[in-house]
Amino acid sequence: MTAQIIDGNALAKQIRAEAAGRTAALKARGVQPHLAIVLVGEDPASQVYVKHKVADSEQTGLKATLERHPVDMTEDALLARIRALNADASVHGILVQLPLPRHMDSHKVIETISPAKDVDGFHVASAGALMVGQPGFWPCTPYGCMKMLESIGYDLRGKHAVVIGRSNIVGKPMAMMLLAKDATVTVCHSRTPDLAAFTRQADVVVAAVGKRNVLTAGMVKPGAVVIDVGMNRNDEGKLCGDVDFDGVKEVAGWITPVPGGVGPMTRAMLLANTIDAAERTGRG
Ligand code: GUN
Repeated sequence: MTAQIIDGNALAKQIRAEAAGRTAALKARGVQPHLAIVLVGEDPASQVYVKHKVADSEQTGLKATLERHPVDMTEDALLARIRALNADASVHGILVQLPLPRHMDSHKVIETISPAKDVDGFHVASAGALMVGQPGFWPCTPYGCMKMLESIGYDLRGKHAVVIGRSNIVGKPMAMMLLAKDATVTVCHSRTPDLAAFTRQADVVVAAVGKRNVLTAGMVKPGAVVIDVGMNRNDEGKLCGDVDFDGVKEVAGWITPVPGGVGPMTRAMLLANTIDAAERTGRG
């Protein structure tokens, strides 16, 4: 079998088009969704990420404000900036780009963001809302993965999903979202002994470890859906995921590529969350 590709670029384009429509409707009511992005220091990858987030926002009609702060900014000064953004009614979403410089406590910084503006979905209140099934912001990457499953009309009820990777921003929320759709969920991690024994039983595998070839063809049940959250470089320096794409695509029923899979979906869901925030508050 050769798997069908779940095209993240095409789906993200659709989601951005919907987002543009919702933004236009808000603007007609005098509200422009506004995302404030806070970058501390000069991490090269972070600079690229925030540039994309600003461009995505502007292309969709949202306002994005990028604040750059020096690497030696004090934690107190950053917390004061976040409190000011919390109090600013014209700002609907606040994103503090990670990683922060080492002298800062990322948890403390994120917990200072108002949960109503936590469009990254990283706040404990967002994680708690997801855990107990209350409305809140879902972290963009697992949210994007769920949209990919929805796009192929996949019914998760009674299916077995294996998530590899237990991070707070992908693995754990991903497990909660799958469970909420009545899947049976197993969360594994890079040190799970005999990982293949779990993945071979899975109808859906989500690989989010950050290591190449975590999932190879012999570990996949024929016809399974494989979602690759990884972002790595191969020996030639080319982007690749956690999944051995060429091998696994011969066994799986559906597969997401890297690049062009989960990455663009993550970016699109940030726009959707920011628009949700603006719709919830309804203030400009
Ligand atoms: N750094 C890498 N990815 C992300 C993300 O999705 N959000 C934030 N805030 N920082 C990141």
